[in-house]
Amino acid sequence: MNIVAIDGPAASGKGTLARKVADKIGFAYLDTGALYRFVAHTVMQRFGDPSDKNDAIEAAEFCRDFFDPSLLDNPDLRLDEAGQAASKVAVVPKVRTALLDLQRNFAVNPGAGFKGAILDGRDIGTVICPDAPVKLFVTASDEVRAERRTKELQSKGISVTKAAVLKDMRERDARDAARDTAPMKPADDAITIDSSDLTPAEMLDKALDIIKERLSL
Ligand code: CDP
Repeated sequence: MNIVAIDGPAASGKGTLARKVADKIGFAYLDTGALYRFVAHTVMQRFGDPSDKNDAIEAAEFCRDFFDPSLLDNPDLRLDEAGQAASKVAVVPKVRTALLDLQRNFAVNPGAGFKGAILDGRDIGTVICPDAPVKLFVTASDEVRAERRTKELQSKGISVTKAAVLKDMRERDARDAARDTAPMKPADDAITIDSSDLTPAEMLDKALDIIKERLSL
């Protein structure tokens, strides 16, 4: 079972790392945060209010039934509004259940031509793939994460301040860590990488060393 699970808080660098690792070792990559963002966006477009449990469940089941990976490429999903709304729908247990099989199927059937699967999110190592042979938990200081997310949004022409990004990020992290179902936390057997003082290239090297030691590639 060639599965790499990467979890961590908002803007910790886990997505960039996961994409690079996937590319380097020929694994398929699933950004599970994008799934929750997609559900949140769908609630706002078609079903109503992301804070309403029933609207969120209806949207999650709709997204599951009509899922197509290309839908995750919608740039609107990257907006902060979608991230905040995602963390609201993500507290609802039935929303998480609706997205469970999709994620697990991806992990075990990454598709022809791929040697394995890499998934990033909040509960990959704890709930989605508890038997994954490699589990990483990527963190960084609040300051560094806010700086990264601010630059990322500004580079897309979105006008934000670092203070507002930091506030939203902390609010979202608190919600993700405090929820009853699948809270964000490192799995007992996860290796934590603090990316605060690492360049993307250094992070990649560190992750690849761990992965190559644990998987026979
Ligand atoms: O990109 P960023 O790290 O800011 O967030 P994301 O990975 O796109 O996730 C957006 C939100 O979806 C998170 O704040 C979580 O509330 C939720 N999420 C989750 O509950 N479980 C996952 N496996 C992935 C994301």
